[in-house]
Amino acid sequence: MNKPFSQSCVENQEVILNAISSYLKKDTRVLEIGSGTGQHAVYFSSNFPRLCWQTSDLAEYLPGINAWIEEANLPNLTQAVELDVCVRWPENKYDVIFSANTFHIMNQAQVQQCMRRCVNCMEPEACLIIYGPFNYNGSYTSTSNENFDHWLKSRDPESGIKHFEWVNQLAQDMNMQLVDDIEMPANNRILIWKNETLGDQS
Ligand SMILES: C[S@@+](CC[C@H](N)C(=O)[O-])C[C@H]1O[C@@H](n2cnc3c(N)ncnc32)[C@H](O)[C@@H]1O
Repeated sequence: MNKPFSQSCVENQEVILNAISSYLKKDTRVLEIGSGTGQHAVYFSSNFPRLCWQTSDLAEYLPGINAWIEEANLPNLTQAVELDVCVRWPENKYDVIFSANTFHIMNQAQVQQCMRRCVNCMEPEACLIIYGPFNYNGSYTSTSNENFDHWLKSRDPESGIKHFEWVNQLAQDMNMQLVDDIEMPANNRILIWKNETLGDQS
């Protein structure tokens, strides 16, 4: 099959990797939510050969992700698994859960489910790393984010840029503590929470 391609992945992969590299220690098991094309997974796992990177997405995305994975043929990058944040989660535990550009695509209920259920897949002290645009203090951080949000809502009225404070409260409700909030190019952020729970949350 023709591999799907995202130009924005090419443009942001290096800056994301540099920002989160200190959280990707050797032998880290990573679960990626909403892998999209699979390009981030190939880039990150080829740059960090000791990582074990598990891609996931809705079922219709899996063939495209797997086309990238098969071509890359990396020992630390396994076939994508189906993961809808409201429905299906892996049984395994991970050291890092990573997701890029998914929260503004999801509706509020989906983001809530993601924040509530991801903890069950996290080891104690595991990190949740979310990349994308966020609003702060009830406001857009830029005109381009405002325009982007209007465009998102014209396609799907339930989608849109989420408020940092709301997502952070969801994280705190699940006993995750914000450890980093990194300004990124193009009015994006990287938010990182640490799981402070020792047991299962189900
Ligand atoms: C804009 S794309 C981002 C893809 C990729 N992470 C990137 O940065 O290029 C949004 C992704 O969120 C995924 N997504 C949307 N709703 C989801 C859900 N309920 N559960 C899991 N993934 C979802 C989509 O399938 C898609 O892959």
